[in-house]
Amino acid sequence: MSSDDASLENPAAEAGSYDQNNSNKSRRYFLIGATAAVAGVGVVGAAVPFLSYWSPSAKARAAGAPVKIDFSKLLPGEMLSPIPAWRGKPIFVVYRDEATIAELNEQPNDLADPDSVSPMQPDYAQNPTRSTRPEIGIYVGICTHLGCSPKLVPESNFVEADQGGFFCPCHGSKFDMAGRVGAGYPAPDNLEVPPHSFESDTVVVIGEEGAA
Ligand code: FES
Repeated sequence: MSSDDASLENPAAEAGSYDQNNSNKSRRYFLIGATAAVAGVGVVGAAVPFLSYWSPSAKARAAGAPVKIDFSKLLPGEMLSPIPAWRGKPIFVVYRDEATIAELNEQPNDLADPDSVSPMQPDYAQNPTRSTRPEIGIYVGICTHLGCSPKLVPESNFVEADQGGFFCPCHGSKFDMAGRVGAGYPAPDNLEVPPHSFESDTVVVIGEEGAA
């Protein structure tokens, strides 16, 4: 195994549900583990354990290898924690409830780019929830102002609308639960939506184009 290959983080899990031999050997997929989570990124909300058997080597991650994220334990209203990483960036995976989806479709807030005209997302995520599955939001957790990591504020991030979202503590930018920035805040753009595709109902591959 070369230094580029994935390293087995938990040998006891070798017989687990992820079967390496069944993976497509012409491509590199990694199920990200807790050890690959972004350290030191603050998050408000419940910590959600998730299945984790594999993690790419640091070198592979730096090279931008696709990363698999299993969010099977995530519940409505929660954000996946520990926060996984792709290309060294924190990846927010949120599970929106029905009320939140309705709010995003109604656009109750004054947003800088409500229709996501700025190319901060793949074409398949240019819609009110900025996702292919309205209940699942996937965003790069880096503020588009100066690069701080916003925090999830499940309720009253936008007080007037009593709507949750993301708050950047550095200079006060607010984003809704689709990562759209409010008008008048320092951040110039919505949060980035990374290229991704869903391998199954509960596994998403970050860094792989597609809207499956
Ligand atoms: S870095 Fe987020 S508002 Fe400045």
